[in-house]
Amino acid sequence: MKKTMISQDLIQIIKQTFQLNWKGVHGVSHWARVRVNGLLIAKQNGANQRVVELFAFLHDVKREADFNDPDHGERAAQFIDSLPIDLLGLNTAEKALLMLACEDHSKGMVDGDITVRTCWDADRLDLGRGGKRPNTEKLCTDIAKQKEFYEQAYQRATYQHRVPENTEMVQVWKPAI
Ligand SMILES: [Fe+2]
Repeated sequence: MKKTMISQDLIQIIKQTFQLNWKGVHGVSHWARVRVNGLLIAKQNGANQRVVELFAFLHDVKREADFNDPDHGERAAQFIDSLPIDLLGLNTAEKALLMLACEDHSKGMVDGDITVRTCWDADRLDLGRGGKRPNTEKLCTDIAKQKEFYEQAYQRATYQHRVPENTEMVQVWKPAI
């Protein structure tokens, strides 16, 4: 897995913005696994990798509670809209996709642009951290629905809980933490 394309400036802003536990259930290790899930799917289906990666780091950044926070996706989209587009490294169309992916990511939707669906599946595939195997009816890309693929994501999610310091998913963040 390649090194993150996210800039140090953006990482600092994310760290200053996120109000919950950095190592919690919606914190950095979850984002790192969402990134891995998303990039693995994008490699095969042509989804926009930059958008997928930014989604991983931003979709939960405005959570105010780990559970029962139905508006956190909309807040994430508003937050993204407030950031300079140069900081994101996106063009206008990509920024719109990222905002849409964040805004709707927890609404259970399964239809839409391939990049948006890839973002949603990347997040849903990490439900294993709570002990849940993904429900394939709630996944929205053909790749994520493959048993071998979602089982590997499940293994990453559950392994991460046991050995949080020892995986490539956390290591991508290490230089920035
Ligand atoms: Fe998430």
